[in-house]
Amino acid sequence: MKNKIIIAEAMSSAFNYLDDIRKKGYEPVILETYFPDGYAKSLLEEERREKYSRIQYPVTIIKEDPDYAVTLEKIKELDPLLVMPGCEDGVVIGTHLADDLGMPCTPFSNIDKMTKKSAMHQALKEAGLRYIRGEEVATEEECLSFLERTGTEDVVLKHAHGCFSVGLHLVHGKEELLEAFRTETAAGNNMFGEDETRLLLQERIFGDEYVVNTISRNGVPALLSVFRYYKTWLPSGACIYRGQESVSEFDEREKELVEYALQTVRAVGIVDGPVHGEYMIDGNGPVLIEVNCRVMGGSMPAGFLDKVYGYHDTEVILDCMLDPAFHGEFLKRPYHTLRRGYTKDFYSDRDRPINASGIVPILLSMKSFYSGWVSSAARSSILQETKDLKTETGCIYMVHDDSEVTKKEFWDLMEIEEKHPELLHSNGPLFQPPEDAAKLTPEMAEVLERDPETLILDIILWLRNGKQGTPVVPEDLVSANDHNREIMEWLEKFI
Ligand SMILES: Nc1ncnc2c1ncn2[C@@H]1O[C@H](COP(=O)(O)OP(=O)(O)OP(=O)(O)O)[C@@H](O)[C@H]1O
Ligand SMILES: [Mg+2]
Repeated sequence: MKNKIIIAEAMSSAFNYLDDIRKKGYEPVILETYFPDGYAKSLLEEERREKYSRIQYPVTIIKEDPDYAVTLEKIKELDPLLVMPGCEDGVVIGTHLADDLGMPCTPFSNIDKMTKKSAMHQALKEAGLRYIRGEEVATEEECLSFLERTGTEDVVLKHAHGCFSVGLHLVHGKEELLEAFRTETAAGNNMFGEDETRLLLQERIFGDEYVVNTISRNGVPALLSVFRYYKTWLPSGACIYRGQESVSEFDEREKELVEYALQTVRAVGIVDGPVHGEYMIDGNGPVLIEVNCRVMGGSMPAGFLDKVYGYHDTEVILDCMLDPAFHGEFLKRPYHTLRRGYTKDFYSDRDRPINASGIVPILLSMKSFYSGWVSSAARSSILQETKDLKTETGCIYMVHDDSEVTKKEFWDLMEIEEKHPELLHSNGPLFQPPEDAAKLTPEMAEVLERDPETLILDIILWLRNGKQGTPVVPEDLVSANDHNREIMEWLEKFI
């Protein structure tokens, strides 16, 4: 009996497929995609090292050969039951193999609509759905002519085949656009090592951002999950992820979004398989940013999604791919969440030297912290500048039985990051001395010299303990200025 399921690049949340495949009694096989040397390859190799170190059982790993026919033969020899794209890097090869091997998938002839942002929007236009006006440009003249023809000043320049927001520029007016165009054309190949001579220039949409995840069988998409995105843009034009929130109940705009998303998945020609779609809602309703024809990213832990939805995407996708009848049943389920879940991404607006990371004790004291990672002074003396998704400085998952607790802690973290980043990472004292140096006592001086990370931990423990015993921070230092008072108040929020 065929029992191997091949995942083309089992990174990010697609890593969850491996355990799910085993739990269902099949054998997972990883197909590592081939990349020429470059940014994408180095990032992938780093992620593979980290993810593989967590696998507790022997697993076969096959390497994609640059010659497609060789890869096809290697996979045929394994006689697999299914081949599925894992993360974005596996979409092209995973779809190609599945189609050639006669497995459930979307025909490979549709791959442009599944991977090229210009083709996706063209498909929407042809289907009579809302799309974003855009054009592939190869010269500065073409850039300027787009501005003129559309009469818009706010545009987005990006790779038609891109990911991780790398090489993405949100710009205003001619000068910024030309500068972004020159930067990208000088940067060479795109993330996938492809020599893209044309870039995609689009009208910019201003609105709220969402994710709609679906799984299709026989051309019919079923809704898996919906998240709201929180992002921000730095003056550099960099797109920064700040967080994601699961959507529990749909308001009118969100109902329209889900309806549009299901139509979009059909319009881009998805027959069998998952779609992680990104959308925006503005005054004119929902519009697609891009479809990603694979499971959602963000390395979401299966256990975290189970707490939020009662299931996680990869297991449902596998069940649907293995059995269309399961998909038929899943389609009938009303959309429902068990708890509200958040992803909190962290960023830094510049390279900062750090020698303490108060974020560590803060996260550990939170009620809704599930798991995740953050950069910390224990591992690096520099907090790197965030330029895209791959250079974020942390990503944690938050969920609690009381969704109000999770919501409050998420927004507290968002605010701290904006107003008091020194609570999260610092390179100096946590508190400021009194303005009048004569008022500085030896007790205060001792606190000012302390490592902020262990100081924060001690303050949290003292607060937790009902403020018993000698205060960790002398009251006259707390009341010496507004900054010190605020820091104490912020720490109290997490108790
Ligand atoms: N036309 C647009 N109007 C407004 N915002 C846009 C537009 N295109 C892209 N963006 C913003 O930039 C983000 C990244 O764009 P896109 O998804 O196309 O690039 P990507 O390289 O695939 O990035 P990622 O992997 O982070 O999703 C979008 O999620 C959205 O916030
Ligand atoms: Mg995207």
